[in-house]
Amino acid sequence: LRALGPEFEDIEEMAFQAMRIKEEITLSNYLIQVGGRERYYDVKITPFWDADKLMLRGVIITLDDVTERVSLEKERKKQEKLAALGEMAARVAHELRNPISVLGGFIKRLEKNADNPEARERYINIIKDEILRLENIVNEILDFSREPRSLEFTYFNINKLINDVYILLEEKVREKNILFNFETDAEEITVYAEYSRMKQVIINLLQNAIEATPKDGKILVETRIKLDKIVVSIWNEGTPIDKETAEKLFTPFFTTKVHGTGLGLAICKKIVEDEHKGKIYHESTEDGNKFVVELPKPEVQPSSVE
Ligand SMILES: Nc1ncnc2c1ncn2[C@@H]1O[C@H](COP(=O)(O)OP(=O)(O)O)[C@@H](O)[C@H]1O
Ligand SMILES: [Mg+2]
Repeated sequence: LRALGPEFEDIEEMAFQAMRIKEEITLSNYLIQVGGRERYYDVKITPFWDADKLMLRGVIITLDDVTERVSLEKERKKQEKLAALGEMAARVAHELRNPISVLGGFIKRLEKNADNPEARERYINIIKDEILRLENIVNEILDFSREPRSLEFTYFNINKLINDVYILLEEKVREKNILFNFETDAEEITVYAEYSRMKQVIINLLQNAIEATPKDGKILVETRIKLDKIVVSIWNEGTPIDKETAEKLFTPFFTTKVHGTGLGLAICKKIVEDEHKGKIYHESTEDGNKFVVELPKPEVQPSSVE
């Protein structure tokens, strides 16, 4: 076996193992380089006995060339990826078409009313707003499609981050006269995460909560320490999301808002689950909605954090 190549050393090792445990061992899609070319095999190692089933005589090794099957499977995965990419491109194009055609319309009106200063100012303001909206959409799409760059994880107090975000959005909370409450298990709750990415998550969730809360409604943010995780939840008063909608919440471009991009929650999911190995989910409550972020609890809690 050894003479056949280094890959066969492993097979030899497993042949001995099969003899030791006296049971058949199977491997599927086992990669072997044959003359510089990659081939895949289903490998079966079967112990065989002498006639009266008393003595183990050796093993039978069968190699089944399944390279064809493996490459078909690879091709199918590639096609699926391409299809998903195509779908994404179609949605992006659709998302950008509206503000662009709005812009076109207002530029025409601006031309017609060039000598009416009042109309001019109004149209210019609308155009400015639409450009800002386009810029936001493009930024969110970039944020969503970006390959996870090397993330700079640090230890920090998640409560401080929430406070920073609150200050950013305080004005909107006041405008709607929302009663904002914050509850925590401890003043300092250390997480090991990328500060700016987690800040993006909390901004997106709190922004959604503020938008969904009726005037004079309530928002409750909680940070909890569990056995093996840190849990941040953002609850807001409002109409509970129905089951059918709930299934689509984290899908890119799903939105029920006239000017929404539907990328906020998709970005949150990517950051929390792909980048931080945590979990994010939605729960409907009797009179509102709760979004929960779970982060792995850091193993060592450094004595002092920022
Ligand atoms: N706190 C919330 N209460 C009710 N619905 C929400 C809440 N957060 C998100 N949603 C729903 O999920 C959709 C997607 O949210 P998101 O991905 O942030 O995109 P966007 O805010 O641009 O619509 C929203 O359009 C809304 O229908
Ligand atoms: Mg949003």
